[in-house]
Amino acid sequence: MVKADAPGSEAPWSAPLAEALERLPTARRRQLRSWQPTATATLLCTTAGSRPLLDLASNDYLGLACDPALVAAASQCMASEGVGAGASRLVSGSRPVHGQLEAALADWLGRERVLLFPSGFQANLAAVLALADRHSLVLADRLIHHSLLVGVQASGARLQRFAHNQLADLEQRLQQARRDAPTRRLLVISESLFSMEGTSPDLPALNALCQRHNAALLLDEAHALGVLGPGGRGLGHGLSGVALISGTFGKAFGSGGAFLASDALVGDWLLQQSGPYRYTTALAPPLAAAALAALAQLQQYPNRGQELLERAGRWRDRLEAAGWPRPPGQGPILPLLVGHDSRALALQEQLEAAGLLSVAIRPPTVPEGSARLRLVLRHDLPAGSCNALIRALGAP
Ligand SMILES: Cc1ncc(COP(=O)(O)O)c(C=O)c1O
Repeated sequence: MVKADAPGSEAPWSAPLAEALERLPTARRRQLRSWQPTATATLLCTTAGSRPLLDLASNDYLGLACDPALVAAASQCMASEGVGAGASRLVSGSRPVHGQLEAALADWLGRERVLLFPSGFQANLAAVLALADRHSLVLADRLIHHSLLVGVQASGARLQRFAHNQLADLEQRLQQARRDAPTRRLLVISESLFSMEGTSPDLPALNALCQRHNAALLLDEAHALGVLGPGGRGLGHGLSGVALISGTFGKAFGSGGAFLASDALVGDWLLQQSGPYRYTTALAPPLAAAALAALAQLQQYPNRGQELLERAGRWRDRLEAAGWPRPPGQGPILPLLVGHDSRALALQEQLEAAGLLSVAIRPPTVPEGSARLRLVLRHDLPAGSCNALIRALGAP
């Protein structure tokens, strides 16, 4: 017997959801596929009985997610402490490994305070709420991550978006904002490496601009940490004006969870006042242990990020020489801008047929008419990967 409130029943409240789904064009529908990491830098689709595909899609930039040192650290932690923390950090969920990771990160980044979060999405929510309220004006790069926008909405602040990485546009807006309200709380939000663009702002100039106009700067370093900046410390490293740095362990760190880094005052505000920090179960200790092991790897091999950048530069040259538009930026994210959704999807399929995994990114993740194939390099890709890619792409 089907219960009246069973999932799938057509209750009146669900009508707007059904309508929204019906309006979604087929080319915009997302599908879940499940992947099994196999040999170095390959992923096997578990639902299709297919062969392993070279991973040109994940954000595991340094190939650390399956690194034996990280796996051992997480396993040992799990054997002694169990899986979950069982409570918020402020109740009984704090473990020694949380404190060790926070101290090690603060030291590595040269910041006074680091606090851990279960995810980067949540850290970004907390970061915006710490630096803006309903009286604030937030000036955000037009392409910031969804989590930061959700934070702005939750804060009640007014939002203005400046053109992507265009500091002249930001400066005009800051000048206007200061003319309108000399003492208003201003917050500028940007990222060190935009995940769908591959681009970075001029961070020292951005930082100086914020300082000149007494605006707090929130910098999301999710895709930069481990790769960009000195020893992979991110582009905000050494810039004292940055109010909050947001980082995640789900990308180059090969683990999961996230952190915010700040001075002592902002750190204490988060500890005392932040809802997203307080009302959530602490980061699972094995993930914290794996992130700590990843940090040890970054410190042991500080040149890996630079090596990856040099390789990414060679790939950009090769793609351009083969007739493709040169992917913007310098980092390991190489978007091939192809415009139409169906063209991006066709390229994705073409690559899969040749044994390579790269994902078509379509609106609403990117602006209308700017669908792209998001090619991502990882440090452990075998030699010859670029040749295989150029062959698989065929003629532009
Ligand atoms: C720029 C940026 N910030 C934050 C996040 C969220 O990080 P997490 O995956 O740890 O929630 C992501 C990941 O999707 C991201 O790309």
